[in-house]
Amino acid sequence: MFARIAGRYDLLNRVLSLGIDRRWRTRTIAAAGELEGRIVVDACCGTGDLSLEFAKHGARVVGVDFTPEMVALAPTKLRGGRTTCVFATGDALRLPVRAASADVASVAFGVRNLADPRAGLVELARVVKPGGRVLVLEFSTPKSRVIGAAYGFYFTRVLPRIGGWLSGDAEAYRYLPRTVLAWPGPDEFRAWFEEAGLVECGYRSLSFGIAYLHWGRVPGRGASRG
Ligand SMILES: C[S@@+](CC[C@H](N)C(=O)[O-])C[C@H]1O[C@@H](n2cnc3c(N)ncnc32)[C@H](O)[C@@H]1O
Repeated sequence: MFARIAGRYDLLNRVLSLGIDRRWRTRTIAAAGELEGRIVVDACCGTGDLSLEFAKHGARVVGVDFTPEMVALAPTKLRGGRTTCVFATGDALRLPVRAASADVASVAFGVRNLADPRAGLVELARVVKPGGRVLVLEFSTPKSRVIGAAYGFYFTRVLPRIGGWLSGDAEAYRYLPRTVLAWPGPDEFRAWFEEAGLVECGYRSLSFGIAYLHWGRVPGRGASRG
């Protein structure tokens, strides 16, 4: 599915979120702490927007995604000669990265797509050093009834039409609301973080609960600062 929509993916993100997705990524970066010289593994990196944002803040980034058509677009967005970002095709459930080698592991809007999201969290925790952070940005459904109703209408009626029209793939944009509506609430998702062995787990609602930023730390002393 992502291979089919890759060419229009960025445009659709901007249009369908009215540009708010950029702000959500900025919040994710802010939750990572000090990034200069730090190693970040960005799983399900897609066309690389979050990876590139980490790199802009001085991190050395490995972006991994299993859809070649998506990840091939990421390096085309690198600016300037010097880059601290590399992209690879790979599975988030078996990251091509050594254990305890990263300061931060992140996923934006990807965990929901994994065949086994809980195993995905365990894998993210595996690659992070003791004291390092796991950050996950994911859609949810607003708790407020009024906002929830308006958002539900947009998400299930308007978005699939615009998405289908702009991407030429209506099914991809029916898949999005279907998987988000079936996704656990933030407390349950935080419990998955804890089950994955992460500590100091928490979350923050973004844009009335349309999205949530979740975080956790790999236990043990060490690497993290900021
Ligand atoms: C909604 S996109 C998000 C892309 C990017 N992180 C962003 O914020 O724009 C989800 C991405 O997850 C990738 N993906 C899904 N399952 C995966 C897996 N098991 N391993 C690696 N990537 C996966 C898809 O190829 C797709 O690029």
